[in-house]
Amino acid sequence: MTTSREASREIESLRGEIRRHNVLYHVYDAPEIPDSEYDRLFQRLLALEAAHPELVTPDSPSQRVGAAPSAGFESVEHGVPMLSLSNAFDVESLLAFDRRVRSLVESDRVLYVAEPKLDGLSVELVYEDGALVRGATRGDGIHGEDVTANLRTVRGIPLRLQPVGGAVPSLLEVRGEVYVETAALEKLNEERLRLGLELFANPRNLAAGSLRQLDPTVTATRPLRIFCYDLGRTQGLEIKTQSELLDRLPTLGIPVNSLYQRCDGIEEAIAFYERLREMRDELPYEADGVVIKIESFSLRHRAGQISRSPRWAIAAKFPAEQGITILRDIAVQVGRTGTLTPVAVLDPVRVRGVEISSATLHNEDEIRRKDLRIGDTVVVQRAGDVIPQIVAAMVDRRTGSEREFAMPIRCPVCGSPTVRHEEQAAQRCVNVSCPARIKQSLLHFVSKGGLDVEGIGPKLIDQVVDNGLVTRADDLFRLSVGQWAAQERMGTKSAQNIVDALEKAKKTTLDRFLFALGIPEVGASSSRLLAGAFQFLDGVIAADRDALLAVPDIGPATADGILDFFGSDANRQLVDGLLAAGVTPGNAEDKALHRSEALAGLTFVLTGTLSTMSRDEAAEKIREQGGAVASSVSRKTNFVVVGENPGSKASKATGLGIPTIDEAEFSRVLEREGSAGSSVSGRPVGNQQGVRRDDGSTLFA
Ligand code: IVH
Repeated sequence: MTTSREASREIESLRGEIRRHNVLYHVYDAPEIPDSEYDRLFQRLLALEAAHPELVTPDSPSQRVGAAPSAGFESVEHGVPMLSLSNAFDVESLLAFDRRVRSLVESDRVLYVAEPKLDGLSVELVYEDGALVRGATRGDGIHGEDVTANLRTVRGIPLRLQPVGGAVPSLLEVRGEVYVETAALEKLNEERLRLGLELFANPRNLAAGSLRQLDPTVTATRPLRIFCYDLGRTQGLEIKTQSELLDRLPTLGIPVNSLYQRCDGIEEAIAFYERLREMRDELPYEADGVVIKIESFSLRHRAGQISRSPRWAIAAKFPAEQGITILRDIAVQVGRTGTLTPVAVLDPVRVRGVEISSATLHNEDEIRRKDLRIGDTVVVQRAGDVIPQIVAAMVDRRTGSEREFAMPIRCPVCGSPTVRHEEQAAQRCVNVSCPARIKQSLLHFVSKGGLDVEGIGPKLIDQVVDNGLVTRADDLFRLSVGQWAAQERMGTKSAQNIVDALEKAKKTTLDRFLFALGIPEVGASSSRLLAGAFQFLDGVIAADRDALLAVPDIGPATADGILDFFGSDANRQLVDGLLAAGVTPGNAEDKALHRSEALAGLTFVLTGTLSTMSRDEAAEKIREQGGAVASSVSRKTNFVVVGENPGSKASKATGLGIPTIDEAEFSRVLEREGSAGSSVSGRPVGNQQGVRRDDGSTLFA
């Protein structure tokens, strides 16, 4: 047992280390140590604090979830009112804003800062002598709600400021937006859907709902993040401009959005607005516009404010995300696992340039909760990359002719009874040979992530199933050119192409094979993890629950899905049938032997068309050399590979200072396979030449 003095010293040093890693992770997006090492430090701190409870302090990183549920929130008065912004919906209003600003500050040209406007919940954090003492919502701008206990659970919010040059400001009131990333919202909604819980309509609702939770342990489970962008009162901190603020906050450990721009005149701010609008869907979070602010604080003072909004800033809003249309009908689709999914059939409506004519309704409970009736006028929305959703019915527009919807008690495809287990939200067709299930499974089998068989689409699958030629995936490999050619709109040549494509697809990888089987809960990434861990198909089939759970990122639901799947005779027959038909899931070991680690630790994003390979092939090649491929650009991206007609990912990369490489350079990267010396002329990350990897070595130096 350590003495109290020794423990105290170790605790202080651990806290310092943990705080430093928190900042590297949450502020700079650049962790120095793996999560496991962080966990080890954290566990050590918890153990020491448990042994020496007298040494626990409220600003210890261990104290994020300490408070008990409260009965309500206290009202607190903001030191300086939290203002709101006036909105601009077109360029003309922005020009008018600029004219007014210039006349107020008596200048021909004004420097602005333009920042993404995040759609979350604005809060104020109060630090006294470096310690977080209070956190409040904006409320009505004068009074907010004290949500300190909840804000303490947000990992990006430091409980103690990092000293700069040994000192922290004696008072810092800093404002920012608590938000959630779109992908995190989708993931959370998927889980909630499975549990039959109400879904969050958008990131804002999730952020607001989480911060206004009475029980902080619930807030702690929500994927909340924060970007700060404004000050209240301060003491011991001299800051004169917005860009200085955005540079200084991170040094204190406070996250800011690095995607801002200093703009010389309103034209540059308008250009930023337009660029951001174009890359809006590529951002990891929902932005509903751009905030344009005067850069200089003293000029802001000259511009002043009217009632609740400053005259020195404006919100340039993006066009609406929502539209209004009629819910014509509710169709029911039967999926691969027999799940019946109600789908809204809508009168087509354009939202943000995309025509929406259907939206998933998830399940029956979701329809009940939203009280949707066929014939209703409904509000629909597109949020980020999320599939269109029905937000709500406009109840006041009902005429009385609307009809309620009930899930069919028989499968709409095969007529078998449907069941719904009490604890599940989904209703299922019980017939394992339901043609709808067979067709969906076959489509999944031949899909890009599966065996990737070119030329087989839904129409052809419909025919071969309806004609009784195919009931299981292995049947596909046994059809002759003549049998394929006998289908509608098929010539001998196309039939031959299909047989060739199937022949080629037989030689596949273990991860594709596992994905193609359509095991419940096992998607592309789990398939890769399983293939990496077990190397051979036999290993996956033989694995028990513990062995499956030992694979990183494989959780209980996935493990059970796998066990159930291989526990079924029908599924084992499918696997045997596929192997007998000549499908060889190339054991992962061969691949591992040939696989180089030349790109290990590097993340690539691909955009535009490449002339010598498809994007999927490019991604495969990156992975073969140990690299990772992400779908959107973030500060974790090391390189963006830019083909012909690139999307906005290329401009985002430029905006974030991430190097881009063209196809020729990319080919050279792939060919060099670890041989040192050749160079790639991407812009270096940070101030070092080349890219630092996790192990500290440098690539492309
Ligand atoms: S500045 C007085 N910057 O927009 C100006 N606000 O409609 C203080 N918001 O209440 C706000 N992102 O919740 C500012 N980069 C950003 C912002 C931002 C989102 C929100 C904030 C504010 C609302 C104003």
